[in-house]
Amino acid sequence: MVKNKFYITTPIYYANAEPHLGSAYTTIAADVLARWNKLQGNKTFFLTGTDEHGQKIQEIAEKKGIKPQKFVDNIADKYKELFKLLNISNDFFLRTTNPKHEKEVKRILQELYDKKLIYKGSYEAYYCVGCEQYLTKSDLVDGKCPLHNRKPELRKEEAYLFRLSKFQKKLSTLIKTGKYKILPKKRRKEILTFIDSGLQDISFSRLKQKVSWGIELPFDKKHTCFVWVDAFWNYITGLQIKNQFKEFWPANVQLMAKDIFRVHATIWPAILLALNYKLPKTLFIHGYFTIDGKKMSKSLGNAIDPLELLEKYSADSLRYFLIRNIPFGDDGDFSEKNLIERHNNELANKLGNLVSRTTALAEKHGIQKTPNKLLKKLELKQIKNHLNNYELDKSLHQIFAFIDKCNEYIQKNKPWKTKDKKVLYELADSIKAIAILLYPFIPTTSEKIAKILNITINYNNIKKPLIIKNIKKSEILFKKIK
Ligand code: MSP
Repeated sequence: MVKNKFYITTPIYYANAEPHLGSAYTTIAADVLARWNKLQGNKTFFLTGTDEHGQKIQEIAEKKGIKPQKFVDNIADKYKELFKLLNISNDFFLRTTNPKHEKEVKRILQELYDKKLIYKGSYEAYYCVGCEQYLTKSDLVDGKCPLHNRKPELRKEEAYLFRLSKFQKKLSTLIKTGKYKILPKKRRKEILTFIDSGLQDISFSRLKQKVSWGIELPFDKKHTCFVWVDAFWNYITGLQIKNQFKEFWPANVQLMAKDIFRVHATIWPAILLALNYKLPKTLFIHGYFTIDGKKMSKSLGNAIDPLELLEKYSADSLRYFLIRNIPFGDDGDFSEKNLIERHNNELANKLGNLVSRTTALAEKHGIQKTPNKLLKKLELKQIKNHLNNYELDKSLHQIFAFIDKCNEYIQKNKPWKTKDKKVLYELADSIKAIAILLYPFIPTTSEKIAKILNITINYNNIKKPLIIKNIKKSEILFKKIK
């Protein structure tokens, strides 16, 4: 069978501070989609990494009296360590201080310059160092950047500008025709309004005397490159460094939150068009992870340390909660109380009990192969559609609706009384389907169940009848939390 290819990316995170739960959120969601594709046998490449240049990082390293490279080395390690603990299955971790990446960025800057798409001029605009983005007057609230509660700098300096304006019409058409897909729909509308109101040429450089921690412009060493140009190109170099560019470009989906959506839907595709690269197929914009309604962020000081949570809860519980609790695409508030509730009610009571009761009874009474009528209640098509439409929370909801059906089936048929081996087979066979479907979300638990049932986790096995004869009682999958 011909399989599809699937390339998914997360934003590369600023290496200005240690990772927080917000950055973990996008990466977990991307991991769910990457694993979902791998499960179906699609050739998958999943890229994440760190964005290590720019004024923000330069300022912090200076303040700490550390060389920027040493500072970012440490932060990149923290991200890698966190992603490992969260069971993130990325195929590569790109750091923008990778020399191969830097060389490639210089190459494209030169090409843009040779094509006269970058020209020398001067630039005057408001710039928020927190965002590392230019803001328009309408973005400001009381003269401040609402995300960072900080007054933007008015920048007026010699700079090299990129002819973004030249791509306005083309971008608008590509988005309108769906050739460049922006999801959810409300974001598509939003960006079209922005683009159609006019795109201005934008500064692609900073004077080196001001921002030295950046990639030098190959055609003028007095300037360093705007951090976003360097950052965007990670999506290409991440593949090139692993020799996978031909196989995987263009990206199937790029995930991010709305804070960096505007630049991603304008400057990034414009650079690609300028250099004759194909555009990514889809940008999916999810909402903010909030604390009391405010975006969780390092700059606002309300960030939650995922490592602290991982000392108390398993990676699977945390992954489950983050994906189940927030409709993908909308904002959602974080609360530890909700996390505990979902862990206890859904993972421990519903899933954990189903597996432990079924396997204990199967060990005691045995199982006998029979057509699985219970499995007919699994809404596989819907689950698949939800996942393919980025409705991650809804697919989990559907999988758990089937778990409820299985628990009702036990209650109704009372195999502890009847010792009915066929009912126990149906339940074990249904748990097999559940374990496979839950693999993208809670891989460690799925693997534990797969071991008990002696199955390989892949999509085709969902409907293939279970062949194991003897089942051993499962360990407790989720201990209840008080
Ligand atoms: N370095 C840039 C991205 C360059 S990509 C070419 C950047 N980095 S960041 O560290 O600020 O990461 C922003 C992204 O982190 C968001 O778009 C989102 O994916 C994730 N999130 C950070 N905080 C988050 C929340 N509170 N809620 C949801 N997503 C969060 O921007």
